[in-house]
Amino acid sequence: MAFKVMGISAGRKNGNSEILVKEALLACQELGAEVTFINLHDYNILDCTGCTHCTQGMFMKGENVGCVLKDKDDKDKLMQAIFENDAFIFGAPTYDLQVSANFTRFAQRSLAYETAFLEKIGAITPKHRVAGLIAAGGSTRAWQSMTLETMQAAMFTCDFNVVDMLLATRVAAMGHVLTRPELIERAHKMGENIMKSLAKDPADRGWEGDEGYGWCPNCHSNALVLGEKQWDGIEYNVECQVCGCGGDLEKDENGKWKFVIEPKLGYLKDRTTVAGRGLHLDEIGQTEGAFYRNPANRDIVAEKMPKYRELKFKGV
Ligand SMILES: Cc1cc2nc3c(=O)[nH]c(=O)nc-3n(C[C@H](O)[C@H](O)[C@H](O)COP(=O)(O)O)c2cc1C
Repeated sequence: MAFKVMGISAGRKNGNSEILVKEALLACQELGAEVTFINLHDYNILDCTGCTHCTQGMFMKGENVGCVLKDKDDKDKLMQAIFENDAFIFGAPTYDLQVSANFTRFAQRSLAYETAFLEKIGAITPKHRVAGLIAAGGSTRAWQSMTLETMQAAMFTCDFNVVDMLLATRVAAMGHVLTRPELIERAHKMGENIMKSLAKDPADRGWEGDEGYGWCPNCHSNALVLGEKQWDGIEYNVECQVCGCGGDLEKDENGKWKFVIEPKLGYLKDRTTVAGRGLHLDEIGQTEGAFYRNPANRDIVAEKMPKYRELKFKGV
């Protein structure tokens, strides 16, 4: 059976992101994949209300209670289509240094579709999902400093395993990317990389993108932060802002700084793995769970909340 690859663009209709995603899909199709494409602008996606109905169902009752917005917009229809696919090419524009809000809105509604949970209870067929990410923006990385990284952060909930990334720089106008054959060629290569990855056993799938891309040798993000003590006492000197791996900066033989992940504990919090994300569930149990377990907290909230509930300021 042919592999199924889906392209999802959050950019303008016929815009730079869409063109690059379509070029990558073309390569997949040439290599035998069955491809589909959607642009998020064609769908109605509402904001996550933050009600936690879905996660309370998952973690308290072990049930797939779904999203309270399920019948109110197109998210559920799109998710059912998504779960049919083996690989995904996501494209999005940079707005204010990061991925556009429509991409984030779509992604944050995926909490109700946490694949590790849905697979565990048999609601969906377990699948290893492969992904390529394409970001387009008018500037260099300097003004697109968080775009791929914010797209990466949206990949964890549904376990999309990122094997390639492309940052299309200095493409601003409609059709601008068509004047940059090297970007079109690189997008085509992404399609080939996706197919190369799909041809492998899921256990052997890994990074197929440019060698040495990004600061982080684990997830290839370009975003590092100074570590701070975490809820369980663990502290790294430097952390990858995306995958959470920890280690330190060292100079290589050419005097260039590189991020070296601590071999013993550095991969413990790796958010690109189900096990790494599982530790975050422990953290939620220790913070939100502990809050609910202690009745004294309810009394404090009941006593102090009225002040803020009743505090009204002039609106617009
Ligand atoms: C609201 C807004 C904010 C933007 N902010 C940035 C930015 O911070 N950095 C950048 O490189 N480009 C920025 N751009 C330019 C777009 O990323 C660029 O036009 C891109 O090619 C659009 O992709 P699309 O054609 O797929 O929609 C911004 C555009 C808009 C409309």
